[in-house]
Amino acid sequence: RKRVLSGVQPTGALHLGNYLGAMRQWTANQDLYDNFFFVVDLHAVTTPHDRKTLSDTTLSSAAMYIAAGIDPKKSRIFVQSHVRAHAELTWLLNCSTPMGWVERMIQYKEKARRQGENVSVGLFDYPVLMAADVLLYQADLVPVGEDQRQHIELARNIARRYNDIYCKKKRPRTFREPKALMRTTGARVMSLEDGTSKMSKSDENDASRINLTDPPNVIRKKIKRCKTDSQEGLQFDDPQRPECNNLLAIYQIMANKTKEEVQRECGDMRWGQFKPLLADAVAEHISPIQDKYNELLQDKSYLASRDMGFLLPSDLGY
Ligand code: TYM
Repeated sequence: RKRVLSGVQPTGALHLGNYLGAMRQWTANQDLYDNFFFVVDLHAVTTPHDRKTLSDTTLSSAAMYIAAGIDPKKSRIFVQSHVRAHAELTWLLNCSTPMGWVERMIQYKEKARRQGENVSVGLFDYPVLMAADVLLYQADLVPVGEDQRQHIELARNIARRYNDIYCKKKRPRTFREPKALMRTTGARVMSLEDGTSKMSKSDENDASRINLTDPPNVIRKKIKRCKTDSQEGLQFDDPQRPECNNLLAIYQIMANKTKEEVQRECGDMRWGQFKPLLADAVAEHISPIQDKYNELLQDKSYLASRDMGFLLPSDLGY
């Protein structure tokens, strides 16, 4: 069976983009693959953070994985910093990876621009740590959203270069080259306030995203106020209407319909009709996830126990 590995940073609440782009793929394919899902706390310390909050969100992110459908019996769930080999391999890979490859990373450039002088070496090195995450487990497939495509490409290149330098004759080569696994719909969920920028945890405006923990009334309010346009009717794929395309795509997934079905159902609708429909579909889809999440968080000791699938380094062979 092919091996799958992926994770989310525990910075703040997980949002609909994380769910649609990444986690939904993890749960849907659990039976097909040998799965590793981890909470990426070492990446979360590359930007300013509060230690106590980070330890709380690390646990609650793991609860969200399980609530969203990751079954600890089918998938290994663990915390990145519990396995020291992630940091150790990063160092070795640092030494075979050209600076220029990392300098090209779009996400680094964007984050560095926003943070000005506070950019750490860690933020720069973030993609190499991510490569180490994937290569350490010899993952074949990495289910992620579109914004991580470049990082997975880099991980492939880092693997190949390491193999080329150090395994000239050795077979099998040290690292397997991973591939990104991406959905056609949902790989890039856009902000509710601007259909041209992606939904993101780091956006200061909470109204720009739907958090998986938002109660139904908040979801309704956010969708009611979200940015739209003044055109009649609704349609997919019009480059002049990014908000429209984004909201229809979210509806398509949440209501579990095909694009054609949504186009037929909503093509003649006005925003005033469509928005409550979308809000209900989102709230309905998320509500069982929230129930399970709240239940899990009631007893944190149970959540942190190995019964819930948290693995210790020794379980992973380190
Ligand atoms: P992070 O925490 O930014 O995002 C977690 C996952 O959610 C996806 N995602 C989105 N998908 C669609 N639309 C959006 N608006 C959206 N926003 C986020 C991301 O693509 C990602 O799949 N570096 C990674 C975490 C990481 C990782 C890894 C992932 C570290 N090591 C190894 C896979 C394998 C990150 O910051 O994701």
